[in-house]
Amino acid sequence: MSALLSSLLILSLFSTGISLSSNYYEKTCPNAESLIRKAVRDAATNDKKVPAALLRMHFHDCFIRGCDASVLLDSKGKNTAEKDGPPNVSLHAFYVIDNAKSAVESACPGIVSCADILALAARDAVVLSGGPSWVVPKGRKDGRTSLASETRQLPAPTFNISQLQQSFAQRGLSLKDLVALSGGHTLGFSHCSSFKNRIHNFNSTTDVDPSINPSFAASLKSTCPATNNAKNAGVPMDPSSTSFDNTYYKLLFQQKTLFSSDKALLDSPKTKNIAAKFASSKGAFTKAFIKSMIKMSSITGGQEVRKNCKVVN
Ligand code: HEM
Ligand SMILES: *[C@@H]1O[C@H](CO)[C@@H](O)[C@H](O)[C@H]1NC(C)=O
Ligand SMILES: *[C@@H]1O[C@H](CO)[C@@H](O)[C@H](O)[C@H]1NC(C)=O
Ligand SMILES: *[C@@H]1O[C@H](CO)[C@@H](O)[C@H](O)[C@H]1NC(C)=O
Repeated sequence: MSALLSSLLILSLFSTGISLSSNYYEKTCPNAESLIRKAVRDAATNDKKVPAALLRMHFHDCFIRGCDASVLLDSKGKNTAEKDGPPNVSLHAFYVIDNAKSAVESACPGIVSCADILALAARDAVVLSGGPSWVVPKGRKDGRTSLASETRQLPAPTFNISQLQQSFAQRGLSLKDLVALSGGHTLGFSHCSSFKNRIHNFNSTTDVDPSINPSFAASLKSTCPATNNAKNAGVPMDPSSTSFDNTYYKLLFQQKTLFSSDKALLDSPKTKNIAAKFASSKGAFTKAFIKSMIKMSSITGGQEVRKNCKVVN
C-alpha cells in the first residue's frame, strides 16, 4: 500500500476519536453561530467574492488532514504552510475567519475551534448566496501541522473521472458526493491557469479540447490568450456566479464548464446520470449537496482549540 493511502487510513482511524454534534456549543458558547454568521455577512456585503472563497477554503481544509483548519495556519520559520503551496491562487478572504474568531474569542475564549468556524462559515456562505441551509455538526479540533507539500493531495482540475473517484474514495466520499460537491462550482471565479490546458495545445493534434462548446472556447481564449496572459485574468465559474443554484449541471451538458474535472463527470454513466438528475431538479441537487457537505465536513483531525487561527497554541 502506498504511503499516502496508509497515512490516510491512519487519519481516518484517528478521526473516529472525535465525535461531532449539532448542539456542541449550546452551553459553552451559545452565540457562536450568530457571531460567525455576522462576520461572514459583514464581509460578504463589502466583497461579493467572499462566499465562494469560504466554500473553497473549507473544501481544501477537509481534503488535507481532515477538517482541522490546517489551511488557516501561516508559514513559520522553515515551514511553508498549505496556504503558501502551489494551488493556492484562489485561496483568499482568510481575514473573514479571523474576524469571526475574534468575535467568538471575546464571547467565550478558548472554546470554539477554527475548524468549526470554517465549517460554519462555508454553510453561511452558501445561505448568503441564496442556497440551502443545514445544521452543521460541531466539535472539530484544530491541527498543529500544515505543509505546502501536502497540497499535492488535492484533486487537480486536469483529473479524469477515475482520478477524481479515487481522490474522493480515499476520504470516504462516493461518486454521488463527487457530483454533488462539484456543484460548488456554481460560485466564484477561476484564473486562466486552471483551465488553459483545454484551450491551448490541448494535445499534439488538437489545440482546443473538442468537448468544449466552440463559442464558449472562443470566449475563454479571448480572455486567456496563450501569451501575455495577465496573472489575475480569469472568468466567473458560471454566469450566475454569486448565486448558489443548479446552473452548473445545466452548463455541464452544454459543454460550458471550465475544468477537465468538471467535464469528466459526464465520462462515466453513473456520474452522468447523477449530473442529469441535478440539472433537471434543483431540489435533488440541494438535498444531495447538504448530505455531501455534512459528510465532507465530518472528516475530522486535529487535537486542540487554537487561540489564533493562524498559529498553533
Ligand atoms: C472535484 C474536485 C475539484 C477540483 C479539481 C476543483 C478545482 C478548482 C479550481 C481549479 C478552481 C479555480 C481556482 C482558481 O483558478 O482560482 C476552483 C474554484 C472553486 N472551487 Fe473547486 N474543485 C473541486 C471541488 C470543489 C468542491 C468539493 C468545492 C466545494 C464544495 C469547490 C468549490 C470551489 C469554489 C467555490 C471555487 C471558486 C473559488 C473562488 O472564487 O474564490 N470545489 N476549484
Ligand atoms: C501562494 O503561494 C505563494 C508562494 O508559493 C505566495 O507568495 C502567495 O502569497 C500565496 N498566496 C496566498 C493567497 O496565500
Ligand atoms: C486517468 O488518468 C490516469 C493517470 O494519467 C490514467 O492512468 C488512467 O488510465 C486515466 N483513466 C481514464 C478513465 O481515462
Ligand atoms: C487529441 O484529443 C482528441 C480529442 O479528445 C483525440 O481525438 C485525439 O486522439 C487526441 N490526440 C492525441 C495525439 O492524443
